[in-house]
Amino acid sequence: MASLVLGVLVSGRGSNLQSIIDAMVAGTLTARIAVVVSNKSDAFGLERAQQHGIKTVFVDPKPFKEQANPREAYDHAVLDVLKSHGVELVILAGYMRIVTAAFIQAYEGKMMNIHPSLLPSFPGLHAQKQALEWGAKVSGCTVHFVTEGMDEGPIILQAAVPVLEDDTDETLSARILEQEHRIYPEAIQLYGEGRLTIEGRCTQIEESVKQSNT
Ligand code: GRF
Repeated sequence: MASLVLGVLVSGRGSNLQSIIDAMVAGTLTARIAVVVSNKSDAFGLERAQQHGIKTVFVDPKPFKEQANPREAYDHAVLDVLKSHGVELVILAGYMRIVTAAFIQAYEGKMMNIHPSLLPSFPGLHAQKQALEWGAKVSGCTVHFVTEGMDEGPIILQAAVPVLEDDTDETLSARILEQEHRIYPEAIQLYGEGRLTIEGRCTQIEESVKQSNT
């Protein structure tokens, strides 16, 4: 079976990218990262990719600012990079730009994101802080398909963690991040195995077929 071709979009430290690379190295994720793209030239995620010999591309948003529709023009440039590398599944991993409808349509049902809360609770920025301020007793993370509504796409996997009395933004974020690193590679593997089906706003996960020698 040819391995799934990924394109990963990052804007920052890239620890989720690292967890995907680690899962591929460990053999729990059968996939290949064709390219890592960033809107930030100094994103640490780019360095992580380079350390593993993965191609990186920085797409500078600045030159697009002059255009009539800067966001769309920028996304078309990113799309060109992804398409020219044969990307089959787009992974948003701490990508701090809102992607345009044209981009989402080009990879409809083929783009995932991870969000640090149990969606639909606490969408948007600073989800961990939102959970603390709301007084939630449980929070977590969500891997979902990307649709036009922000953080609204069909949920693939979620993991819950407790919110403790003395939690700070940092301690809660760290507890959630540990789970992000576990479920993101898992969700990608499920996709690669062809076990995810989107039905309306839900994702069905097909049970794995157990191999038997008898
Ligand atoms: C993660 O918390 C992820 O859930 C959110 O952005 C953060 C990215 O972290 N979308 P990293 O760059 O993968 O370390």
